[in-house]
Amino acid sequence: MNSFLWAVVSVLFLGAAWFAWRYYDLKRRVDEYARLARIAPDHLPTDLKQIENLSNAIASLKTTFDQQLADLDSENARLSTVLEQLTDGVLIVDTNGLIQFANPAAQKLFETPSVTGHSVTEIVRNHQLVEAWRRCQQTREVQSESVELPARRQFLQLIAIPDTHASGSLLLVQDLTRVRRLETVRRDFISNVSHELRTPLASLKALTETLQSGALADPEAGPRFLGRINTEVDALTQMAQELLDLSRIESGQVELLLAPLAPKGLILSAADRMRMQAERAGLKLSLHYDEDLPNIRADKSRLEQVLVNLIHNAVKFTKPGGEISLEAESGEGGVRFAVRDTGVGIPAESLTRIFERFYRVDRSRTGSGTGLGLSISKHIIEAHGGRIWAESEEGRGSVFQFIIPVQ
Ligand SMILES: Nc1ncnc2c1ncn2[C@@H]1O[C@H](COP(=O)(O)OP(=O)(O)O)[C@@H](O)[C@H]1O
Ligand SMILES: [Mg+2]
Repeated sequence: MNSFLWAVVSVLFLGAAWFAWRYYDLKRRVDEYARLARIAPDHLPTDLKQIENLSNAIASLKTTFDQQLADLDSENARLSTVLEQLTDGVLIVDTNGLIQFANPAAQKLFETPSVTGHSVTEIVRNHQLVEAWRRCQQTREVQSESVELPARRQFLQLIAIPDTHASGSLLLVQDLTRVRRLETVRRDFISNVSHELRTPLASLKALTETLQSGALADPEAGPRFLGRINTEVDALTQMAQELLDLSRIESGQVELLLAPLAPKGLILSAADRMRMQAERAGLKLSLHYDEDLPNIRADKSRLEQVLVNLIHNAVKFTKPGGEISLEAESGEGGVRFAVRDTGVGIPAESLTRIFERFYRVDRSRTGSGTGLGLSISKHIIEAHGGRIWAESEEGRGSVFQFIIPVQ
């Protein structure tokens, strides 16, 4: 009996000891696993005896996590790129009116390098725009406002959108300065064109009415009036052509065929085209150029058009007996061309304006002409990466110069 009791006790003891050992061994493995998970989460063993089930589950959990993190990262990167490239300013503002985020465009628009952390009032610095943001905060509805900032010569539009996740708001700021300016230019342009059309059309109307009321039968007046009609129609045709040229150039539809070009050849062919006209107007046309000028990078027919425009003006504004000289020499940043005349000259206050569309110094003295030639020329020269300007002394003559970069 006694020995039976002993046997039971020893079996129980051995059993307890075995379980205790299993428990400590398992705890040691789990602890070791936890330690590894902390220091090297990327290299966790998955084949640990007795806890392989747990380690496998954690490993697959981690894979899922990693995937989601990578997805989030790329999403984040995409969003930042969009925000960075956006030309509209984006500001995120919290309930207290403090800016939490601003993209580079917003910093540029408000001319402040560090926008975040500052208040809307401090950065926006415009009462109406700040009011729009306030209204959005109070009503939780989208608000928009546009203002002109004369000090900064800017026209800004602000759209305040309530943030649905937090109680702040999102501000979108657009710079409408360019759009506004284009609108004004377009309006001016249309009114200029209609004005320019009215004069020749009124003459045409008067001439045809005179012909209708009997002048047609008059052997002397009839042909004279028809001749004047012809001249007016020519002027209108030229204007239509120049307007078309200008609109093509301004809308970027004209592609320059840039190729190496010898300045001498350009000058010779422009002079050839205009020599007859100059001689008929009693003017002497002379050429001056260096023989060893470098080639320029240019569209020959377009540049020739510029020279012809300039020579044509010189012919128009120089009295018989005068002189026109066509020059080319090496200049700063390229080859400098000049068309010099001994004509009526241009008053100082008009010198900067003659390149504007439709600008003519004195409409009465010009006779024919639309005032578009120089504006077209300026576009062509600038499309070549060059620069054009005029100097003049009233009553003594003018010189128009432009520089075209060399090859
Ligand atoms: N060589 C010049 N001498 C004097 N005035 C000039 C000369 N070239 C241009 N201008 C002035 O500049 C204005 C604009 O010239 P342009 O654009 O060629 O138009 P347009 O020749 O049709 O009048 C002319 O109307 C004239 O008043
Ligand atoms: Mg002209």
